[in-house]
Amino acid sequence: MKQFRPAVVQLRGVTKTYRMGKDNVVNALQGVDLDIHEGEFVAIMGPSGSGKSTLMNVVGCLDVSDTGEYILAGENVGKLSDDQLAAIRNKHVGFVFQTFNLLPRLNAIENVELPLVYGGDRKGRRERAIGALEAVGLGDRVHHRPAELSGGQQQRVAIARALLNDPAMILADEPTGNLDSRSSAEILAIFQRLNDEGKTVIMVTHEPDVAEHCKRIVRMRDGIVARDELVPRQRNAEHELREMIAAAASHVLQMPAARAASGAE
Ligand SMILES: Nc1ncnc2c1ncn2[C@@H]1O[C@H](COP(=O)(O)OP(=O)(O)OP(=O)(O)O)[C@@H](O)[C@H]1O
Ligand SMILES: [Mg+2]
Repeated sequence: MKQFRPAVVQLRGVTKTYRMGKDNVVNALQGVDLDIHEGEFVAIMGPSGSGKSTLMNVVGCLDVSDTGEYILAGENVGKLSDDQLAAIRNKHVGFVFQTFNLLPRLNAIENVELPLVYGGDRKGRRERAIGALEAVGLGDRVHHRPAELSGGQQQRVAIARALLNDPAMILADEPTGNLDSRSSAEILAIFQRLNDEGKTVIMVTHEPDVAEHCKRIVRMRDGIVARDELVPRQRNAEHELREMIAAAASHVLQMPAARAASGAE
């Protein structure tokens, strides 16, 4: 693939095996070769069990591979200690998960500032958390707890949290898996905006129409990259969102007229 920007992610022959007991061995990754460049927006697809989440965990330094090589932003991750791995993860990567992973007792601000709890002064932390929530359109929900927010809003809190350390790369594992189509479009619009601003976004999804909002689709099968292709026409979530809102508004406007015409009431 023709790319002039540096590769942020370079995986070479990466394998990962899970052993559960003596006889139960799962080869989750069986030799993954993959380059992802700065500013890309990549969908990872593939059947259940094909190794997508395992791959994301390795890319995000939540886990290390057994064999092979992983270079993240020029650094050979396989040679790092656990502390160094945590440091590189905090610096480079923001995570978003299907189930949001928010703490139920904390409000939106407190959830977002969690990654900063051990760093910086309290006032600065608060301001950054509020700024991150405003950036995802939740400036008016900062004191709400997760149970007081819709699924889409909870996911936006999770994105604000992922953005707090200003990582160059966002990793999202099925971020729209639990959302309706309107909320999904909102989340995709945020990822597209972040990507336009230069962030690298890698997103696992099972849904082809969600993947079409990315620039490239990598398909996993049995722990390897089976296919890797560019999206011919990237869909625009912001446009789709505007159309959905307009369609909903016109539906509401048409209701009394439609009722009168049919002689109802
Ligand atoms: N912690 C673990 N311990 C043991 N086996 C695991 C572990 N995590 C994943 N596996 C196994 O590794 C394989 C790949 O799992 P992975 O979670 O990466 O798949 P996936 O592509 O993300 O699937 P899905 O679409 O269902 O989320 C599966 O067979 C799974 O059972
Ligand atoms: Mg998974």
